[in-house]
Amino acid sequence: MMNTNIDRKTGTISRRAVLKGGALVGTAFALGRVGWASANKQASIPNVRLGNGVMMPVLGFGTFTLKGDVCTESVADAITAGYRLIDTATVYQNEEAVGAGIKKGGIDRKSLFVTSKIWVDDSGYERAKKAFQTTLDQLQLEYLDLYLIHRPHGDVQGSWRAMEELNAAGKIKAIGVSNFDQAQLASLMAGAKTKPVINQLEINPFFQETGELQTVRAAGVQPQAWAPFAEGRNGVFKNPVLEQIGKKHGKTVAQVVLRWHHQRGVIAIPRSSNPEHRRENLAIFDFSLDAEDMGKISALNVHRSQFPEWT
Ligand SMILES: NC(=O)c1ccc[n+]([C@@H]2O[C@H](COP(=O)([O-])OP(=O)(O)OC[C@H]3O[C@@H](n4cnc5c(N)ncnc54)[C@H](OP(=O)(O)O)[C@@H]3O)[C@@H](O)[C@H]2O)c1
Repeated sequence: MMNTNIDRKTGTISRRAVLKGGALVGTAFALGRVGWASANKQASIPNVRLGNGVMMPVLGFGTFTLKGDVCTESVADAITAGYRLIDTATVYQNEEAVGAGIKKGGIDRKSLFVTSKIWVDDSGYERAKKAFQTTLDQLQLEYLDLYLIHRPHGDVQGSWRAMEELNAAGKIKAIGVSNFDQAQLASLMAGAKTKPVINQLEINPFFQETGELQTVRAAGVQPQAWAPFAEGRNGVFKNPVLEQIGKKHGKTVAQVVLRWHHQRGVIAIPRSSNPEHRRENLAIFDFSLDAEDMGKISALNVHRSQFPEWT
């Protein structure tokens, strides 16, 4: 399904064409066919119902750059703090440490939601199947909740066929993509037996991807934000507009940003190696941004990726 309503000011198409990756979206409160905030609480974090009926926490823990013991301890503590969604990827080279953290977290596997991603080197039917098994072995898990194609390079259709089979066999509960633009998403969907339920994209207050959010939702796909804080780039944690909104609500800039993602219907996966930050980032369900706040944050959009080196 092609989107005819793209926000060309975002520069999304040219960026994506070069990157061959990421697209996502979510404009305020319009949740399309995806069942945002549909009841069910897990810890204190609400779930969203994905297009295939699987429930997914609306806030999770990212693990990019976390390695070794720091990674294991961070994941274990995140679980203790209340996170249930843990996001990793083969290319992060930390699946073993994440798996150890999951074990150390010590809660029932069924109450966790674990995501990993297939890297471009492993694209294609046979390689994808092998890569998935390696991921499971590293994580010491029997199944994944979500498996994503990390970037739209290589034999995407072959990878997808393997993922469809693993999904049908119950080894993956939900399958999706990351960094797919609207054309890439449409092309995958056209030949797919099983539709992707997630598109994980760069989204932050400086790169809001409003048009992309609409496209993704129109396709029945749930948007998810990577680098929800833009990894701290562009002075996000010291931004005066975000500070002023935080002061108004008695909240930090990080909490304002995560609440903004939530109110746009976007799943965020902030990463932190700091236990206090991890807890701070969970405390976003006890306040709301009003229309004025949302408008001020909209005005921070510079329509440019904060990660030009990846495009
Ligand atoms: N699909 C993709 O292509 C893709 C690409 C990139 C990332 N991801 C995923 O998305 C996740 C999140 O993105 P990210 O890790 O790149 O960046 P991020 O979550 O936007 O930012 C992480 C940075 O924010 C800081 N931070 C976190 N909470 C804070 C708080 N409350 N106050 C102040 N600073 C805070 C962290 O520092 P401290 O450690 O000091 O708290 C860290 O430096 C990744 O970990 C990964 O799982 C996916």
